[in-house]
Amino acid sequence: MSDATHSDTIDWDSFWRAAGESEAADASPSGEHVVDALPEFFAERGRPDSFVDVGCGPGVVSFAMAERYPDATVVGYDAAESVLADNRERATEMGLDNLAFERTVLPAFPDREFDAVFSYFTLCYVADVESALQNMYDAVAPGGHLIFNYHNRYARAYWQTMADDPDEYLDPIRARWKAEMAPSDWKKARVRESLADGADLETAITEMQRDYIAKSRETESFVEWL
Ligand SMILES: C[S@@+](CC[C@H](N)C(=O)[O-])C[C@H]1O[C@@H](n2cnc3c(N)ncnc32)[C@H](O)[C@@H]1O
Repeated sequence: MSDATHSDTIDWDSFWRAAGESEAADASPSGEHVVDALPEFFAERGRPDSFVDVGCGPGVVSFAMAERYPDATVVGYDAAESVLADNRERATEMGLDNLAFERTVLPAFPDREFDAVFSYFTLCYVADVESALQNMYDAVAPGGHLIFNYHNRYARAYWQTMADDPDEYLDPIRARWKAEMAPSDWKKARVRESLADGADLETAITEMQRDYIAKSRETESFVEWL
């Protein structure tokens, strides 16, 4: 199965199947960048009755929108079936009847109309961006909104530094892999240690968070703690 239209891009279906908590968060930039800004945008422009999150990944925005606007129809689209299956399960567990997840591989987009079509950090993985944008634009209902991001020259320069010296970025990941320890594993181990020493759960979590923040400030990379 191909889930991408850029020949050299990531195999997203495998990525999401293997991703742990921290990898999933790292590949969900909308959580940090936009999820809180969207309600402000809709407060000004009018709330949508239908909203789609194209290239939704684990659906940070899709879930947030479905919870915030229970009367709106929300659909998360992605090329990777693995992440869609997880999202559907979570939506059912959370009882979110207004939220669905469907597969599409941009530039293809279903022949439907929505009040708001949103796509974050996804078009950079699509070879035929023009057609993708045209198809998403065609899906915007009259008076609706198309909201998306695309890398500008500053972002490209930043990513180019990674491409120029991949080892600088890959070495810390290799070290984590070798130690079989990601930040989320470290956190769990730290909480378990405190619980074993007799702390209650709240204290164990608070102490772990305090240590995590202190260590993050003291060191440049998580690998230095291992
Ligand atoms: C970096 S993630 C961004 C996830 C989410 N939008 C966010 O910002 O939190 C990129 C997402 O785009 C999806 N994707 C990549 N190529 C795609 C394509 N051609 N059509 C639809 N989705 C695609 C990937 O499966 C992945 O979930």
